[in-house]
Amino acid sequence: MLDTVHSGAHSVPDTIRRLGGGGPRRIAESAGVVITHGRGARLFDSQGRGYLDFATAMGVAGFGHAHPRWAQALADQAAQLAATVLHTPMQADYLAGLAEIVPDGLERVALYSGGTEAVEVALRLAQSVTGSPHVVSFTSGFHGKTAGTRFTGQRYASERAALGIDWIHDVAYPLCTGHDAVSYSTCEGEGAEALAELDRCAAGLQGGVAAVIVEPVLGTAGNRPPQRHFLSRLRDLCTRRGWLLILDENITGFGRLGTHFAADWFSVKPDILVMGKAMGGGFPLSGVAAPSSLWDNSLYAEMSATSSSYGANPVACAAGLAVLDILREEGFLDNVQAVAGVLAEGLRDIERRSPYVERSRGVGLMLGFDFVDPQSGAPAGPELCKRLFLDTLQRGLLIVGDVPGVRLNPPMTLTVAEAEQALEALSGAVCR
Ligand SMILES: Cc1ncc(COP(=O)(O)O)c(C=O)c1O
Repeated sequence: MLDTVHSGAHSVPDTIRRLGGGGPRRIAESAGVVITHGRGARLFDSQGRGYLDFATAMGVAGFGHAHPRWAQALADQAAQLAATVLHTPMQADYLAGLAEIVPDGLERVALYSGGTEAVEVALRLAQSVTGSPHVVSFTSGFHGKTAGTRFTGQRYASERAALGIDWIHDVAYPLCTGHDAVSYSTCEGEGAEALAELDRCAAGLQGGVAAVIVEPVLGTAGNRPPQRHFLSRLRDLCTRRGWLLILDENITGFGRLGTHFAADWFSVKPDILVMGKAMGGGFPLSGVAAPSSLWDNSLYAEMSATSSSYGANPVACAAGLAVLDILREEGFLDNVQAVAGVLAEGLRDIERRSPYVERSRGVGLMLGFDFVDPQSGAPAGPELCKRLFLDTLQRGLLIVGDVPGVRLNPPMTLTVAEAEQALEALSGAVCR
């Protein structure tokens, strides 16, 4: 399937490999196609082939591609004003719009241009308000790759140890293992062991815990939901101990679970909420929502302390406003829930029929399953994963699935008919 479109004397993949910093993106290398444009739920390659996009740039294209309202808003704003350090109506309008959908009490939002940057601000806000250094995260969580965030979770644990970072800790995330996406809403698990481990971890920390940061549903680790009552029990524990609870809603926010935020789905109010990805519909935009009591008692109360080069950029605000318009359209969240139901049932059926698919799971439009080796029952090896991924791609469906922990993040604008096409493509590839 290797694409040979040329960029100068070299193919597109070759140019990216030669001139891009570091290694190229694995999934792009696995797919070997070159994407020229997208429309709605589909990406199109340089040969004109279309793919239902269940990767959505890991949730960034959550409202599909080239949504006419979003594209027009960007074009109009770009023709007016792209950057200024002064106040703009776009920033005011956008903050007012955001205030209508964030959980009560978290109406004050600082705007940034990437998820990691927003997480860094959230951590620093918590440390500044509490005067405590320590942050506890969850082992398989992912919050970014910068100096602070990359040391949350276990991903870069050896680097953390080598550098002597001693203010970030992690405890096990209490996965829901007994339910697929159809039955998740009946999971009664509370994550009691994880809470006990968290308490033990905190007890050994000199200077106190500033915050606990958690993904409401693990994204990068394979779209795996927690035991369903865990987040509300964690909320209770944080309140009792005086730790701030940070929900990292980079993936779960803006409708992905069929509610505005995961905080709504799980009925949990964080102290700080981090948002990004789908927030800008594809334009870089992220934010940190927190109450006045935190902002005003932190180092961020200083004038300009929250500012950043691209924060509150007028084009980003226009993109964000267009996203809010789409999100608030009548029937939008109902459609997310309906399509999620179709996909959940379809995955259950595929798991029953496929020798390669196990542990299907998820909540809302954050779905996943594991590719396994039918001979051994172990996670599928790289070759098998790539074969199944490419077979699915050839049938017109892009999944985050060149690895054993498969993720499905379809656009939230997906129709039931498109969901059925996607299930047919997946089934054709993995059911023999
Ligand atoms: C939950 C979560 N937090 C933070 C980040 C980092 O966001 P960004 O890549 O926009 O910096 C990601 C990225 O995948 C994420 O999934």
